[in-house]
Amino acid sequence: MRKKIVAGNWKMNKNLQEGVALATELNEVLAADKPNCDVVICTPFIHLATVSGIINHEVIGLGAENCADKASGAYTGEVSAEMVKSTGAEYVILGHSERREYYNETPAILKEKVDLALANGLKVIFCIGESLAQREANEQNAVVKAELEGSVFHLTPEQFANIVIAYEPIWAIGTGKTATSDQAEEIHAYIRSIIAAQYGNEVAENTSILYGGSCKASNAPELFAKPDIDGGLIGGASLKAPDFKGIIDAWKA
Ligand code: PGA
Repeated sequence: MRKKIVAGNWKMNKNLQEGVALATELNEVLAADKPNCDVVICTPFIHLATVSGIINHEVIGLGAENCADKASGAYTGEVSAEMVKSTGAEYVILGHSERREYYNETPAILKEKVDLALANGLKVIFCIGESLAQREANEQNAVVKAELEGSVFHLTPEQFANIVIAYEPIWAIGTGKTATSDQAEEIHAYIRSIIAAQYGNEVAENTSILYGGSCKASNAPELFAKPDIDGGLIGGASLKAPDFKGIIDAWKA
């Protein structure tokens, strides 16, 4: 059966001391009250090695928010998938709409990153989702299909088992405007259907598809109750341990 996952995406927030404090608090809170789902925190690169030494990896997985599209060499300022893995991290977020939009990450670049992440033993949280204009033009299905075809559908079924999909409508990210649970379920079911068309039903049924975009403790139970929503990718509400714990606890409702 596919995993239920609540993953935090800290984005460019928290200096090292603040990040260490948050990871320490979360580790304590979840040790005292074990989650009913997989929990992952994705942090800035500079936090990874230190946070890796703090958390109990049996309870909290660790991930980066990006990695390079090259294996190694003269790429000043870049951080490779191998380097991410060497910190003790198990995951990397790729394809986030902020990376696509502000850093011009194309499907072809993301494909390189996905391949390098998997080759280095990382699991990929691969983000897809439409803009407001695309939603208003009813293009959301075509957008998510093209994003999957462009960067992950070349993988073998064995490789695809290491992909977690995060559906994040861009109009819902950081806006306080969540997709309704029915809107989210409709497109999650569509995403699962195209994974089934590509890889067969068994792979599709085993793929975790997370919802992201203004997910918080108050709306998580309704979203997570839907059959094709397997958890969340959480931005703003992952920056305070009680808020994040509230979403994790939605799996206990
Ligand atoms: P948000 O961000 O929860 O702050 O809307 C989600 C994300 O971008 O992953």
